[in-house]
Amino acid sequence: MSKFLEVKNLSVSFPTEDGVVLAANDISYSVDLGETLAIVGESGSGKSVTNLAVMGLHNPQRTQITGQAFINLESGPVDVISAPTEVVRRMRGKTMSMIFQDPMSALHPYYSVGDQIAEAWGLYNSGSKRDGFARAKEMLDLVGIPDVDKRVNEFPHQFSGGMRQRVMIAMALVNNPSLLIADEPTTALDVTVQSQILQLLGGLQKEFNMAIILITHDLGVVAEVADRVCVMYGGRIVENASIDETFYNPLQPYTVGLLNSIPRVDKLGSHRLSAIPGQPPSLINLPRGCAFEPRCQFASSVAGNLCKTTNPNLDEKSTDHFARCHLSTTQLHQLLAKNESGAK
Ligand SMILES: Nc1ncnc2c1ncn2[C@@H]1O[C@H](COP(=O)(O)OP(=O)(O)OP(=O)(O)O)[C@@H](O)[C@H]1O
Ligand code: SF4
Ligand SMILES: [Mg+2]
Repeated sequence: MSKFLEVKNLSVSFPTEDGVVLAANDISYSVDLGETLAIVGESGSGKSVTNLAVMGLHNPQRTQITGQAFINLESGPVDVISAPTEVVRRMRGKTMSMIFQDPMSALHPYYSVGDQIAEAWGLYNSGSKRDGFARAKEMLDLVGIPDVDKRVNEFPHQFSGGMRQRVMIAMALVNNPSLLIADEPTTALDVTVQSQILQLLGGLQKEFNMAIILITHDLGVVAEVADRVCVMYGGRIVENASIDETFYNPLQPYTVGLLNSIPRVDKLGSHRLSAIPGQPPSLINLPRGCAFEPRCQFASSVAGNLCKTTNPNLDEKSTDHFARCHLSTTQLHQLLAKNESGAK
């Protein structure tokens, strides 16, 4: 059975004066209606670049894109990478919609939020301006903004960060999209507001049966909302598994490092917090071997210098659990157990 969005072998690169930046490298993932896929990774790992390609938002003059991204509509599949620009433009905001990290850069400062939501609605509906405003109020109410009769006439700067993010969500959902790509929707917000926004998205997803892609650099925020996780490193997917497998049986040392860097209530006391030392790789001259090798504590445990010389494939290590590492599952488990006993 096809899922609603199926991204297949998608690569995105930018020719620059210094060389070609290979920002997304042979990416494949899928997400179905009603499901949430989290895409996690450090800054610069290619999370936004990949999903902007799905939305058709790269400048075709300055970007090279290969691969496919099928949206499986009732009328048949559409590959948004090869489809004409006009077709993708018409799907944007309706079939698929995106919310961005910084709502101030996506909202116009000189128009009321009501005007902006009504305009987004008017792109796909032929009602009057009054109808558009009525719809804007309905959406603001839906995303939990109080006193909508007054607030619909206010400007973005009159809203707090959390409320602005709710306005962005209202605007993104005004035409009932089937796919919502949320690019770090909560990064700028404090923890309480962050969790309110995630709960809001979860509730709206249930109500409208949306597919959601949640992009974040923080594995902590995905624990409660995602069904599946793709971990990206250096422009590639290094692990792709269900939420339970990712958290309880990670099979890639970078994912293990990410998990160790979040506080875990269940392990308080016995668990040390650790950030992963070192820098991510340059995307212009990717190493021949595993891109994580310079930072990987287990590289020397792999025989024959393989981590330095050969990039590991994204293998299915167990059913529906994919990871990119030369270590076998048993070897990794042994190394992790050794670390754990050393830490006690
Ligand atoms: N237009 C561009 N030209 C050249 N390089 C680019 C361009 N856009 C993005 N990049 C590079 O592509 C890489 C991936 O960027 P991307 O924005 O996808 O990272 P990200 O994972 O979303 O990071 P963050 O968590 O900081 O948002 C980065 O090294 C970035 O500098
Ligand atoms: S392939 Fe080698 S360097 Fe890469 S993550 Fe696995 S052990 Fe570490
Ligand atoms: Mg980004």
